[in-house]
Amino acid sequence: MEHPVDPAPDPDPEPALRPRPASPLREVRDERFAAYGVRLLLKRDDLVHPELPGNKWRKLAPNLRAAVAGGYPELVTFGGAYSNHLQATAAAGRLLGLATVGIVRGDELAERPLNGSLARCAADGMRLHFVTRSAYRDKAGLPALAGAEGAYVIPEGGSNALALHGCAELGRELSGACDVAAVACGTGGTLAGLAAGLGAGQRALGVPVVGGGFLEAEIRSLQTAAFG
Ligand SMILES: Cc1ncc(COP(=O)(O)O)c(C=O)c1O
Repeated sequence: MEHPVDPAPDPDPEPALRPRPASPLREVRDERFAAYGVRLLLKRDDLVHPELPGNKWRKLAPNLRAAVAGGYPELVTFGGAYSNHLQATAAAGRLLGLATVGIVRGDELAERPLNGSLARCAADGMRLHFVTRSAYRDKAGLPALAGAEGAYVIPEGGSNALALHGCAELGRELSGACDVAAVACGTGGTLAGLAAGLGAGQRALGVPVVGGGFLEAEIRSLQTAAFG
């Protein structure tokens, strides 16, 4: 079998998806922590990307790379009326020239002026499709109902196996930098990936900001899907 002697370097079709430098870690001095001998460090992951901050970049970037590599023309995802994830997906679509569809929980919103968050999605070109709260619970059939069959489907909150690999990178950036890494949890995807990326002896602590009863099972199943 013959190989080209001097293969051309791979073209980089998506500069917007190039890996980003590690986000900075900044110390916060606070006597309430110091009194207990605790050093508090803030991982300024909000600075990791100007339009896809924090876990939005961590979770979306691997999915966006998969969507681009798979030749999908459109992204579809899900969220509530104030979803940062919807906004980030809309921004990603604009950056990559991909169409985006946002399936929004609450059909009553269709009758009202868009709030700032949804208006931002629309301004970035996202087509919004409002569904009832009960229809929203079973998401499998919703992309087709929204006219987005064939689109790359990103789950609510962006949490899937690929997203966990992106969040594991966040954990690796913290390797050796702290004993405990704490993060707020919505779907649990960030915690699940972050924990997998931390080094030996480090622990991840998740603080559920919505009812957290389902999170342990969800995190276990996400980790199994991502890492086995
Ligand atoms: C700042 C911040 N922290 C934590 C979370 C929770 O992320 P997850 O849904 O992965 O648990 C979110 C939501 O995405 C968030 O915006």
